[in-house]
Amino acid sequence: MNTVLVGLQWGDEGKGKIIDYLCRNVDVVVRFQGGNNAGHTVIANQKKFVFHLIPSGILHKDKICVIGQGVVVDPEVLLNEIKILKKAGVSVSSKNLKISNFSHIIMPYHRIIDSLREQKRVQKIGTTKRGIGPCYKDRVSRCGIRMGDFIDKKSFAFKLKDNLREKNPIFKDAYQQKGFKFSSVYNKYSKLAKKIKPFVCDTTEYFYKKQDKKFLFEGAQGTFLDIDAGTYPFVTSSSVVASNALLGSGLPFVNLKKRVGVAKAYTTRVGEGPFPTELKGKILDYLQDEGGEYGATTGRPRRCGWLDLALLKRAIKVNSINRLIITKLDVLGNLAKIKVCLKYKKNGKIVKNFPYSLEKIKPVYKEFKGWNKDISKIKNFSRLPKEAKNYLNFIEKYLKVPISFISVGKDREEILKKRRGEN
Ligand code: GDP
Ligand code: IMO
Ligand code: MG
Repeated sequence: MNTVLVGLQWGDEGKGKIIDYLCRNVDVVVRFQGGNNAGHTVIANQKKFVFHLIPSGILHKDKICVIGQGVVVDPEVLLNEIKILKKAGVSVSSKNLKISNFSHIIMPYHRIIDSLREQKRVQKIGTTKRGIGPCYKDRVSRCGIRMGDFIDKKSFAFKLKDNLREKNPIFKDAYQQKGFKFSSVYNKYSKLAKKIKPFVCDTTEYFYKKQDKKFLFEGAQGTFLDIDAGTYPFVTSSSVVASNALLGSGLPFVNLKKRVGVAKAYTTRVGEGPFPTELKGKILDYLQDEGGEYGATTGRPRRCGWLDLALLKRAIKVNSINRLIITKLDVLGNLAKIKVCLKYKKNGKIVKNFPYSLEKIKPVYKEFKGWNKDISKIKNFSRLPKEAKNYLNFIEKYLKVPISFISVGKDREEILKKRRGEN
């Protein structure tokens, strides 16, 4: 059975760890959107790996990893990631890493414009400044440089010149910046292209003949950062939702039977935008410390709040989720009371349907008793404290989707099944 896994909140739900776990049962792991705005952490054999572009399945040497056509690739970041992995003894070659020739390249002008636009705009998004938005913008404006152009010297030179002809005056006039010299960008980037070329192929053709394999699609970001379904404009620039897995991967012949949603046992957000259950004060400090809530990509402290079931209900609908995975349950371990948002209120009245905007929305909470115990070494659902079981059973019942796994610690092994037979 093929699986797509997506984050149900605002990213950093622990997708990397879960992909690493679930990929034991698949052949191919595919990234289908986003770029190095993502930071997916896996802790394996006492080593910490943070993946920005390469699918988290790469640690398993018999898996093929794919960077699909919907991904935006920063060549320097990609090569650096390969270098770090190789240094750690992980094998990365053209046999286990395939990059779509249709994926788009993040160029230095994308990164710079990302920062400059944030400085200039009144409504700031708090982007990762990795050039993600400007690169996707060029893709739809039809002036992007695709992987297939990038690895072809003539085509790369032509496209780069054309882009600089248009972009340099914008840098000078709108932002009073110097602009880019063709020869220096070309010389540096064509060297990077040469190193990346062996990994590039027409991934659709390559996998069309391998439809009998088991695929796992690794979502980046989270549902409410989706360009359409998210809290626009405080979103990223790609389609994060499960339905984009086929289009973004370029592997539309695959059936997606299992649609797994990952949610933290509480909620976090990095960057600007509305966040109904956001906390301040002591509990925020506790969650940030206990949960290590600092961005895997930018190191920014993550905003933290209680679990929001109204938000998860919506995420389940927009992704058609049929399995839930709850992560970081251990982090709630020392709290005497835990709150969960069931519904929203606006202007003192209960909001019936999911609101168009989350601005000025107030949560309606249910309170749970905490369990006051370290649960990270527990291997069996039945051994969890009754308060923790109660918390999970309530989530499952309220959302009407079965929980398959519960993550109770950072490490690969710190995970347990909710019921027998799940894999
Ligand atoms: P992703 O972007 O969804 O892959 O998540 P990140 O890797 O950005 O952030 C999740 C953080 O939580 C990482 O530091 C993980 O090592 C850590 N983590 C994942 N699952 C658990 C868990 O169950 N308990 C604890 N305490 N930490 C976890
Ligand atoms: P993973 O895959 C958390 C947020 C940024 C910003 C907004 C737009 O690790 O869950 P962008 O640079 O994409 O234009 O920024 O999206 N953001 C993330 N937040 N986790 C991520 O990825 C994110 N990727 C982007 O903080 O608010
Ligand atoms: Mg992350």
